[in-house]
Amino acid sequence: MRLDRFLAKRPHLGRKDVRRLLLQGRVQVDGETVTEGLTEVDGFSRICLDGDTLQAGNVRRYLMLHKPAGCVSATTDPQHRTVLDLLPEAERDGLHIAGRLDGNTTGLLLLTNDGQWSRQLTLPDSHLPKTYYVETAEPIGAHYAATFARGLYFAFENITTRPAQLEILGSHCARLTLTEGRYHQVKRMFGHFRNAVVRLHREQIGPLVLGDLPLGAYRALSGAEVAGMRAGAAG
Ligand code: URA
Repeated sequence: MRLDRFLAKRPHLGRKDVRRLLLQGRVQVDGETVTEGLTEVDGFSRICLDGDTLQAGNVRRYLMLHKPAGCVSATTDPQHRTVLDLLPEAERDGLHIAGRLDGNTTGLLLLTNDGQWSRQLTLPDSHLPKTYYVETAEPIGAHYAATFARGLYFAFENITTRPAQLEILGSHCARLTLTEGRYHQVKRMFGHFRNAVVRLHREQIGPLVLGDLPLGAYRALSGAEVAGMRAGAAG
């Protein structure tokens, strides 16, 4: 919201008072004096008046987690264990998921309280690559790669999938890299060949690799990793 609107919501501060306080240089946002009422602030902004804190500002948090099978990509669920249940209670507040995985999919999942960052990563025109390790019920044909690279028509959404890269690792396993995230996309792509996915594991999103983070564990992203993801999403 706008800084002047934030200030005008304080008890005893009218619109005229707000204008005057701003012009007198008595308002600081994140340690900088701000005189322009149109300045955008949000829940992460530290806002002070005459050195007194009006809003401390939330700390931005970015986590990666190794999702096990059997817990759902949701913050609450009446029946199932959620990925948030893997975190200590004190760590959960305000977090949401940036890019869900199916219940039986394992691997790299991102959690944050920064809605702007997660939107950037998951917008349809963010072409951040996501790499999956896939195991299938039937042998994987060499011809799948060309079909995936051309794109597949998804009638439900009336779209053709973006070119995807398939690296065949064995008779029943492969690594697939997508640059979008349609509903059940990997399973539907293999479903085109009537080949069921029996194991699905996300290894990488953009420059971020799950690596040896143990199953069910999580860690904070570094500032460089957060920025790298943002840059990757911007293409
Ligand atoms: N594609 C799927 O089918 N499932 C996932 O969990 C992720 C991608």
